[in-house]
Amino acid sequence: MKDVEDLLSNRLLMVARLVKPCESIYDIGTDHCYLPIYMIQKGIIKRAVATDVKKGPVQIALRNINIFGLDTYIDVFVSDGISHVGQDSNIIISGMGADVIIEILTEGIHYAKNANQIIIQCQSKTERLRSFLWDNGFYIEEEALCKEKDKVYNAFRVSYCGVKQIYTEIETIASKKLVKMHHPLLTDYISCHIRKLEDIISGYKASNVVFSNEEELKRALEEINENN
Ligand SMILES: C[S@@+](CC[C@H](N)C(=O)[O-])C[C@H]1O[C@@H](n2cnc3c(N)ncnc32)[C@H](O)[C@@H]1O
Repeated sequence: MKDVEDLLSNRLLMVARLVKPCESIYDIGTDHCYLPIYMIQKGIIKRAVATDVKKGPVQIALRNINIFGLDTYIDVFVSDGISHVGQDSNIIISGMGADVIIEILTEGIHYAKNANQIIIQCQSKTERLRSFLWDNGFYIEEEALCKEKDKVYNAFRVSYCGVKQIYTEIETIASKKLVKMHHPLLTDYISCHIRKLEDIISGYKASNVVFSNEEELKRALEEINENN
């Protein structure tokens, strides 16, 4: 059997490492299906259900599954979101922006609450996703960061605990977990947010608008970076 490892990016390897070994996983928005193929090859899971909202990616997934000889281990079909998953399921939602992920979780909230583990890799506006998870009683069990082509990506493993979390705005960017870990990529991750805040602040300055919240956030992030 061919080895899919060479095809997997650092980002996808990070996602795979966050998965607690289990019988079967649902990969939502699977596209190429590399994650389920890799995880079966590595013995992290035994079977998978890979779905995508579009036909094109499903066809690509089917072709790759065939190339790697895993047709009997992975079911693939077109599906929107997580409404097809069962009780106590293991779910991956990777490679989408916060708004799409929040929509998927909101529309399938019953399934999300009943999942064993949900591994989420968010491509943009991660702060918004963290707020959504904490406001809706999800607990972030583990977090990871990785770098690929100068961009820092993050991923979480979450489960539903039913308790709304209390948090500050700064923690939606630099969570207590990442700060406590002194993660070597946290400084890069935060610096990117600082640059975005600087852009906002300079825009505000030009229009004479008050920008104290952004200034405060920027100072707090700089302090975290100094101590990391
Ligand atoms: C950028 S690809 C990510 C592929 C892979 N999961 C990864 O992390 O590399 C995002 C995929 O999610 C699919 N997608 C977007 N919204 C979806 C939804 N509501 N339900 C299922 N799939 C969705 C897209 O069609 C696309 O193939």
